[in-house]
Amino acid sequence: MHWVITGANRGIGLALTRQLLSEGENVTVGIRTSMPIEHQNLKVLRVDTSNIVSIEQFTSQIDKPVDVLINNAGILIEERFPQVTEEGMLLSLKVNTIGPYMLVQTMYNMQRIRPGSKIINISSNLGSIASTTSTSSVPYSVSKAALNMVTNLLAHKLRDMYVISVHPGWVKTDMGGRNAAVSPEESAKGIINIARNLKVTGVFVDYKGNKLEW
Ligand SMILES: NC(=O)c1ccc[n+]([C@@H]2O[C@H](COP(=O)([O-])OP(=O)(O)OC[C@H]3O[C@@H](n4cnc5c(N)ncnc54)[C@H](OP(=O)(O)O)[C@@H]3O)[C@@H](O)[C@H]2O)c1
Repeated sequence: MHWVITGANRGIGLALTRQLLSEGENVTVGIRTSMPIEHQNLKVLRVDTSNIVSIEQFTSQIDKPVDVLINNAGILIEERFPQVTEEGMLLSLKVNTIGPYMLVQTMYNMQRIRPGSKIINISSNLGSIASTTSTSSVPYSVSKAALNMVTNLLAHKLRDMYVISVHPGWVKTDMGGRNAAVSPEESAKGIINIARNLKVTGVFVDYKGNKLEW
């Protein structure tokens, strides 16, 4: 299978890439800087998912149909009421919401995704409206809640594909911090397992496959 992963140079994206390559899969990654690993089945492309021109250039360089797209690139801007900034909100929406949506739409228009393709949007439990608390970063939660709407809208439109949101767990990465509960490898294994066995669309699950409230 051919997997495309954004934000794959570190964290969960890198763990996903390593795991897939070790299992003989073909992986195309979209990154902003440089990739710490090389492999014969790995194609490395540049993308800044906050920039539509970059998304279009990236998509046009993908040379094989995409079986699984993992919209993983994301940012956490820690801003809480009453110190939220317009810049923090806009950048969070650009990277966490608009980028994933535009990438899917561009891949559709350039015919990189096709019937049967699977789209995994890496969301967060902090984007769940049903389990909102007062403690999370406003830009992050708003942008991930909106990403969940992206998932739902695309799932309704792309009826011959699969589109889901996945909460990867609280993961030991630069974003999750060293006290996080789950290793990147464990999270990646769970996400890959979900993608391979996906039989439903328009759902929100965690990396173990447990259903979450939107
Ligand atoms: N870690 C957690 O506990 C946790 C929990 C819930 C959800 N998530 C979600 O899981 C995903 C991966 O998170 P992580 O923990 O692996 O984070 P991370 O270690 O901070 O890595 C984030 C990745 O996203 C890339 N990225 C950010 N902005 C980008 C842009 N504009 N264009 C292209 N790439 C961009 C980064 O690239 P650079 O190296 O170039 O910055 C990096 O590769 C995110 O969507 C995050 O919101 C994480």
